[in-house]
Amino acid sequence: MKNKPSLQNAYDLKSPDDNIKLYSAWAGTYDNDFIQDMQYKLHFSVAEEFVLNGGNGLILDVGAGTGALAEALLKKGNFSIEAVDISEEMLKVADSKNIYKRCFLSDLTKEIPAKNDFYDGVVSSGTFTHGHVGPSAMEELVRVTKPGGLITISVNEKHWVALGFESELKKLTHSIKNYALKKISIYGEQSSHDHKDDKAIILSIKV
Ligand SMILES: C[S@@+](CC[C@H](N)C(=O)[O-])C[C@H]1O[C@@H](n2cnc3c(N)ncnc32)[C@H](O)[C@@H]1O
Repeated sequence: MKNKPSLQNAYDLKSPDDNIKLYSAWAGTYDNDFIQDMQYKLHFSVAEEFVLNGGNGLILDVGAGTGALAEALLKKGNFSIEAVDISEEMLKVADSKNIYKRCFLSDLTKEIPAKNDFYDGVVSSGTFTHGHVGPSAMEELVRVTKPGGLITISVNEKHWVALGFESELKKLTHSIKNYALKKISIYGEQSSHDHKDDKAIILSIKV
């Protein structure tokens, strides 16, 4: 069944509507059967990199899901964070944790309902990956971030190459100051599933 929650089914999604269906079925168990059982740790790496590069202020967590990245950030400091996601059910779980200032629904393949230069920072973990969101969404992330602000997002390494993130990034050079890349593991060293060795690029953009 295609909507059965699993990492492979998530990677095989084809459209935003597919994402809504799968994550609506996954929201209730995602924290246990994905984050915990598969030793997912990408949210910790993104939080660490964001803080290391001086991220602060009002932050937008894009593709926030059940709120793992905000939880990781709040362990490191006193941030004010908003969540955006395409899945109402994932956001309901995130909202129930009382970690976000505001949660709102939006499709990242379209315009984000926020003013230009609104956020001090934008973060994301696990959302720029196979079957989810591609490089064209980066322009919107830059648009809603203040000059001097910081964007830190993870991009699945194979997705980065297949969809040409770096050449999309080069098109944004007129609107950003600089960017840096770091390759890291998505899962913990003790994990034993088929994707245990998958890597992600952490992209940090100074706007
Ligand atoms: C693998 S989960 C990651 C959730 C969370 N950031 C984490 O690290 O656990 C991917 C999230 O991206 C969301 N998503 C997928 N496509 C999207 C889109 N087009 N617009 C907004 N969110 C999307 C899904 O609903 C899901 O919550």
